[in-house]
Amino acid sequence: MFQLLPVEIYADRFKKNVVWEIPTVNIKDQPRYKYRGMHLDVARHFFDVETVKKYIDQLAQRKINYFHWHLTEDQGWRIEIKKYPKLTEVGAWRNGTLIGHYNDQPHQFTNEKYGGYYTQDEIKEIVKYASSKFITVIPEIEMPGHAQAAIAAYPELGCTGEKLNVMRKWGISDNVYCPTEETFEFLENVLTEVINLFPGKYIHIGGDECPKTQWKDSDFCQNLMKEEDLKDAYELQSYFINRIEKYLNSKGKQIIGWDEILEGGLAPNATVMSWRGTEGGIAAAKEKHDVIMTPTSHCYFDYYQSDHPEEPLAIGGFLPLEKVYSFDPTPKSLNDDEANYILGVQANVWTEYIPDLKQLEYMAFPRMDALAEVAWTNINQKSFEDFSYRMQKQFDRYKIQNINAANHFYELNASIEVINKIDVFLNTLATDSEIYYTNNGNTPTINDFKLNSTKGINITESGTIKALAFKDGKASGRVWESYFDLHKASGQQIELENMPHEKYSGNGPASLINGVKGSNERYGDAEWLGFNGKDFVAKIKFEKATDIKNINFRFFSGEGQWIYQPKSIRIFSNVDKTNVIVLTDLYQASKEKVIEKSVKVDLNQVKELSIKVENFGIIPEGNQGAGYPAWLFIDEITVN
Ligand code: ACM
Repeated sequence: MFQLLPVEIYADRFKKNVVWEIPTVNIKDQPRYKYRGMHLDVARHFFDVETVKKYIDQLAQRKINYFHWHLTEDQGWRIEIKKYPKLTEVGAWRNGTLIGHYNDQPHQFTNEKYGGYYTQDEIKEIVKYASSKFITVIPEIEMPGHAQAAIAAYPELGCTGEKLNVMRKWGISDNVYCPTEETFEFLENVLTEVINLFPGKYIHIGGDECPKTQWKDSDFCQNLMKEEDLKDAYELQSYFINRIEKYLNSKGKQIIGWDEILEGGLAPNATVMSWRGTEGGIAAAKEKHDVIMTPTSHCYFDYYQSDHPEEPLAIGGFLPLEKVYSFDPTPKSLNDDEANYILGVQANVWTEYIPDLKQLEYMAFPRMDALAEVAWTNINQKSFEDFSYRMQKQFDRYKIQNINAANHFYELNASIEVINKIDVFLNTLATDSEIYYTNNGNTPTINDFKLNSTKGINITESGTIKALAFKDGKASGRVWESYFDLHKASGQQIELENMPHEKYSGNGPASLINGVKGSNERYGDAEWLGFNGKDFVAKIKFEKATDIKNINFRFFSGEGQWIYQPKSIRIFSNVDKTNVIVLTDLYQASKEKVIEKSVKVDLNQVKELSIKVENFGIIPEGNQGAGYPAWLFIDEITVN
């Protein structure tokens, strides 16, 4: 009814001079999924009761029926527990917060004490408020990892007994709960209070990203594993989750856990939240467990929604509105029976880089509209074009509710095609825009070149292209610009032996020789190609035999995000296979995010250039992602 009424129905007070009419309609409708969720992390940054209620209002407007409230973390414990007052006296406060991005080295911190928590009365108020809007609140109490704030309050819960502070920086703490009887008693007491506050059937127990280093070093854990016949630390994690599940089941509650709870064996009645992809969800559904799909690829609203350089700082990644909209939570690889275990879908709002309400709204909206439709609308009835059309009115609703939604409808999206020549194609999500561009560095006006959307812009010389969308003759959105640095390989052919990871495949292999350099800040853009654990092996084929004197490589470095410099580079041409240029010992820890390597060569009459860049390999102990394969990110290979 609200959606059918004039948008003024959403104003906070009565508006005069509005005709309160709705069209005569028949509505026959039902949701595709019974679980339609939105998450909010209130631990990395704290959001007060009023903000949470405003968020819940928006969930209700979109017929989202579960609010997943991420209440405990390494960086703060946010729920009052009467039996353990230090959880909030100590655990709710940190002595400063990381400034800038985690990848900015060296880390710098504010000096301000930061934190906050909800009293049990406030929790009850929010649960009741949500319930009045038909929303069930699911509390998340993280274990066995992401528990440093609790261990800071009660050091005996950890494996080392060390006195810790609440974590100030982002990332994953090695300080995790030790699976002692005292820890289980503590968690059961905490959960008893939690159960009394949240009447819904689910309690989320986390289970993600639990480093096993302290368990491996702990005599207690090693003995426990022997006693319980657990063959590795994953089975120990499974033992942990199983015990908690048993306790919660005995109280009439069901657990939800992140997909790591599959590792070492799934607890018998657990619902799995598939976040590292859809694979965990697929495996769980095949094991006849309920699944909620929330993969990073389509559901992480802390990712960038635009690759415009003026976007506010975000964690990384790239998740534009249309990609959220395109998500199908039920994987094709499941049969009908298995597909029934897909309860629904959820998007997550992690708040490392979301310090306030304004930024929360910017990241959550309008992507939450797309998610709501993924959750509600039958797949055969979904249409992004229709959605985009309806979004025009939705932006009026945002305005009247004073919501700082991001509007990228008039922003230009580029794709650069390399087929013997370089062509740039630009478009907007809005269907009512015209695009004008310049090649002289000036801001485009409607007196400049008008884009022919089928022909695109053919790039024939180095220089800057600027473009802008216009609606009814008025500039809308932001200027798009790109510098093209043409070189001997640009517009030629490239073949890769190993394809990049599907999440980081840019505009395909040709991104490496399209004359455009990847972002200095973001490896998730259309230029960088990311290889997980694999070497980069390429052949560049030249239309005409070419003399080559210099090859310049660009690599991304972000060790906090598992991205490492390569170990070596090998180059040779098909003409002179004995003249192999090898650079070894290339790896160096780096503060810079982008490292360039310029290699002098003397290769004549090259028709085919072979390049092999060696991946760093396995990430060493003591680093984020230790034991996992490193990523290699590479962009423009400039050949002169
Ligand atoms: C997660 O994003 N660590 C669930």
